[in-house]
Amino acid sequence: MKALFCIFSGTGNTLRIAIRLSDELKLHGAETEIYNIRSDTEPPAMDGYDTIVFGYPVHAFNTPAVMLEFLKKLPHVSGKKAYIFHTSGKALKFNDAAGILPKRILRKHGFDVLGEFAYVMPYNIIFKHSDQMAARMWKCAIKRIGNDAKTIANGERNKVKVNVFKRAVSTVLRIEQPAMPMLGKHFKADNEKCAGCGTCVSLCPVSNITLSDDLPKFGKVCVGCMACSFNCPNDAIKISVLNGWRVNGSYFFGAEPATDEQVCSYCKKSYLKYFHESEK
Ligand SMILES: Cc1cc2nc3c(=O)[nH]c(=O)nc-3n(C[C@H](O)[C@H](O)[C@H](O)COP(=O)(O)O)c2cc1C
Repeated sequence: MKALFCIFSGTGNTLRIAIRLSDELKLHGAETEIYNIRSDTEPPAMDGYDTIVFGYPVHAFNTPAVMLEFLKKLPHVSGKKAYIFHTSGKALKFNDAAGILPKRILRKHGFDVLGEFAYVMPYNIIFKHSDQMAARMWKCAIKRIGNDAKTIANGERNKVKVNVFKRAVSTVLRIEQPAMPMLGKHFKADNEKCAGCGTCVSLCPVSNITLSDDLPKFGKVCVGCMACSFNCPNDAIKISVLNGWRVNGSYFFGAEPATDEQVCSYCKKSYLKYFHESEK
């Protein structure tokens, strides 16, 4: 089996899952490759692969625009096997609605979408999870990846159903996609904190940031992935009206995993449900 991963990841969670899933597939004898999606790159050739795995983070219960644009550029294939997976900060089934558009586009292009998988990973916006929470999420992801890799290696189906209410909410929240470029052009570096290192420029997946007089300037095509503000070594990037939700700095996944008592109080019930299901 030869599998190609096509991944969009703003702050590394989705890529982290893809690397682990790819390594796990190799244990099943698969050859794998990972392709990182940016707005300015063309889809890679897919002829030599029998399975394509698409991965992305959930943005406002939807799939990020960069991913959708990438999917629309794919060639027509005849029944090639595909799986999709998403990462999200909440452990809510609502996030499954993010799969609606990718599945529709992939089917239009002739892919046989066999299944989809969901992984909860720490937030890159809204609030910073503790490293203990991040470690518990990662421990659960590893468990799930073990099962999911088997499903992919065996070419099994794994359908996810999304009810009408979740579909409706997700459709309304697609407003995030035109809104993000408008918000993003008001992102700003704090003159005092910014060292002009250009980390944000090199990480932006849509080339929306340039340096001018050693300060980042934000253009009009931001997709809100948070790669810039999350990874800024000086926590210098203010994210406009979302600034109160800014999360800066990477997580340490090797911490002691949170116990049930240490699970954060926000949405505690749904995190516990996800953790317990994953750890079964
Ligand atoms: C603009 C934006 C919107 C988000 N919306 C959601 C959401 O609707 N539901 C959710 O659970 N997480 C949401 N998240 C959190 C991310 O999905 C989560 O942290 C993800 O693992 C990030 O993946 P990445 O590191 O590969 O970019 C959102 C993040 C961003 C930046």
